[in-house]
Amino acid sequence: MKVIITENYAEMSQKAAEIIIEIVKNNPNAVLGLATGSSPIGTYQNMIKDHQENGTSYKNVSSVNLDEYVSLTADHDQSYAYFMRTNLFDHIDIDQKNTNLPNGVASDLQAECDRYNKLLETLVPDVQVLGLGSNGHIGFNEPNTPFDAVTHPVKLTENTIKDNSRLFNSIDEVPRQALSMGIKNIMQAKSILMVVSGKNKAEAVKGMVQGKITPELPASVLQLHPFVTIVCDKDAASLL
Ligand code: GLP
Repeated sequence: MKVIITENYAEMSQKAAEIIIEIVKNNPNAVLGLATGSSPIGTYQNMIKDHQENGTSYKNVSSVNLDEYVSLTADHDQSYAYFMRTNLFDHIDIDQKNTNLPNGVASDLQAECDRYNKLLETLVPDVQVLGLGSNGHIGFNEPNTPFDAVTHPVKLTENTIKDNSRLFNSIDEVPRQALSMGIKNIMQAKSILMVVSGKNKAEAVKGMVQGKITPELPASVLQLHPFVTIVCDKDAASLL
């Protein structure tokens, strides 16, 4: 595990974007595994800026996202499909046909997870971007998710519902379920890039980097992956 500690969120975002841009420059057909949440927004902003100023092209890039809320349509402003369009896809030259997220309004959620798992057999990310839940979740793999899980419907924990309620008008509007890549899918990426900032993540960062490898802290599994870079600000790294 390579841990890069930055002064603040802005520097974290800059460093993380540089890593992704380098991958795309070296391989114009790269597959990007993408994440939502507030952590990667700055990274995406730097990618957009670089695209506009330096012309890095995503024309032949494909993407797969980690997760999506169940019951939110792609035009709902809290859906992850909407998040990806507004925070990244609409501002770079990626062909939106080559972008993929689980469909949270599929009539058969298990069939949708099966479809996504099949897709992930052919679209293996060159880099998988991850954020970190304050309880150590990655994607929506909540504590005690088995490490061999693949894309599956998830019941969100109270902790995650509370964390994510800040983005909704009220906590009652937060979906109780999501579809998420499993830990096994995440570990199949060729490399992993985690962005994490803030004091409220410090405990989870410590467990992830220095703690025991256990499903109780899903991100601890990353210790088993050969190519992981964690870019974290000094608040998130404060307990290391
Ligand atoms: C959400 C997402 C995760 C994200 C995490 C942290 O629930 N499903 O993919 O990494 O929580 O979010 P944030 O970056 O906003 O703190």
